[in-house]
Amino acid sequence: MTHNCQSDPSADQPDTPAAARSSSGLRQGLTNYGDEGFALFLRKAFIKGAGYTDDVLSRPIVAIANTGSAYNPCHGNAPQLIEAIKRGVMLAGGLPVEFPTISIAESFSHPTSMYLRNLMSMDTEEMIRAQPMDAVVLIGGCDKTVPAQLMGAAAANVPAIQLVTGPMLTGSHRGERVGACTDCRRFWANFRGDQIDAAEIDAVNNQLVATVGTCSVMGTASTMACIAEAMGIMLPGGATPPAVSAERMRIAEKTGQQAVAMIGAQLTPQKILTPQAVENALRVLLATGGSTNGIIHLTAIAGRLGIRLDLQRLDHIARQTPVLVDLKPSGQHYMEDLHRAGGLTTVMRRMRHLLHLDALTVTGRTLGEELDAAPADFPQDIVRSMQNPIYPEGGIAVLSGNLAPRGAIIKQSAANPALMEHSGRAVVFEDAEDLARRIDDPDLDVHADDVLVLKRIGPVGAPGMPEAGYIPIPKKLARQGVKDMVRISDGRMSGTAAGTIVLHVTPEAAVGGPLAIVRSGDRIRLSVAQRVVALEMDDAQIAERLAALPPVATETNERGYRKLFLRSVTQADEGCDFDFLQAPHMTVSVPR
Ligand code: FES
Repeated sequence: MTHNCQSDPSADQPDTPAAARSSSGLRQGLTNYGDEGFALFLRKAFIKGAGYTDDVLSRPIVAIANTGSAYNPCHGNAPQLIEAIKRGVMLAGGLPVEFPTISIAESFSHPTSMYLRNLMSMDTEEMIRAQPMDAVVLIGGCDKTVPAQLMGAAAANVPAIQLVTGPMLTGSHRGERVGACTDCRRFWANFRGDQIDAAEIDAVNNQLVATVGTCSVMGTASTMACIAEAMGIMLPGGATPPAVSAERMRIAEKTGQQAVAMIGAQLTPQKILTPQAVENALRVLLATGGSTNGIIHLTAIAGRLGIRLDLQRLDHIARQTPVLVDLKPSGQHYMEDLHRAGGLTTVMRRMRHLLHLDALTVTGRTLGEELDAAPADFPQDIVRSMQNPIYPEGGIAVLSGNLAPRGAIIKQSAANPALMEHSGRAVVFEDAEDLARRIDDPDLDVHADDVLVLKRIGPVGAPGMPEAGYIPIPKKLARQGVKDMVRISDGRMSGTAAGTIVLHVTPEAAVGGPLAIVRSGDRIRLSVAQRVVALEMDDAQIAERLAALPPVATETNERGYRKLFLRSVTQADEGCDFDFLQAPHMTVSVPR
């Protein structure tokens, strides 16, 4: 697995222009002075200023994308991980060089972390391209970081291996096990409904995030970690070890070692992130009850490689892929339990007939070979069998209909079965501000069987498609004990959230999608069985209302990144990537 790297014999030779054009180590990607020999001479002079010897500088370089940040507690173990990665790189004969990139933490990003994902992907891609490196270790973790890194690395196509910071441990509140962030939402809903008081909500606030690391349930961070392992771009067993465990540090050390081995084999992302790998990721996302956000991120990653994710085909495979993993928000347990149950290996073994076992991984072996080589199964009750699943179909269903001509998503495994076939009166909020202003108004005309509709929280509308699709239950209903209602928006929701919530309605209201024409009092039908979300209105009236919408502004007075974002962001069905970052052509569709 490791690569015994010899010193580069040319390192002792005078640096010539020909040597400067060599494409490894410090010699690659020279600064353009019009004199490559001088560029290398200068580069070495500067790095020697940091105390490096010629021997060390002749080694293959493994860069480490350091996403540690005091604003990102989910990455709070980054310093220890970097130390372990460096140990692994050096044991394998490489030179580790860390560099910073943007770090995005979910709860510290305004207006929403999704607004910054593409910026982080550009940062990652361009820093990989700009700096001399033979391979790169990507330290991701919090929701948007892994997709951003994989989007960037896929385009840069230098051998890359994903590491994640790992899930946090759970805490305890009055004897009850709790963890971010499914329990955060449950306790907050109870507080809004006057079922717990201010003292208790303060007390539980101390317990929900017991350690550094990513959310402890199958939210977006855990989903993306599992997806990365399923795609083979992470070491087998790398998705689930807790952030503060010895196993997490060992994975980091092995990741550093493996990064050196990947150089000789030239295991680039484009060799690993194939259509088969993307299909494996989709299957695993469905079987784990993964986050709806995972669909958007996977669409964006695949889109960088010319692979189009077909939502209708996704729904087809979802019907054949049961949810096997008993983790919140679809089930009961936490990521540390999945790790103790054998991690993702246990999941993929149970569904191996649904996977492309010949897909290549960062180890140079196939997924099937890795599953065969992993430790044997043992009795556990976190990962179910195909015959006894948590939920008989995939966690996510793809809806369409006159309200969502290009699709919408519902996490059916975390929805209320009683509401999945429902027709109700729309109670409409025009945007997030309107929602904040009126949702708790005692005079709001709303009943438990109404359908809450929130517009303008899509990619352009908010902007950045915030996780505001988890529309709170109006206070006056929450106080009556109402826990769930049908909710519809063009936004996203946290992967840790649960409820009968239709998301990603595409096209969004802000670009003239049919959601824009819905008015309070209209009737909306949701049928998850028939995969329909529709306005109960005839086509002529819909056309009339659409024609009466004000024209969508094509220019904006904004500046800087916001201007770039508004001009370039694509809709949810294209992954909300920037149009100019996608591959020029989509050459294949998945799943097939
Ligand atoms: Fe960072 Fe959940 S907030 S992983």
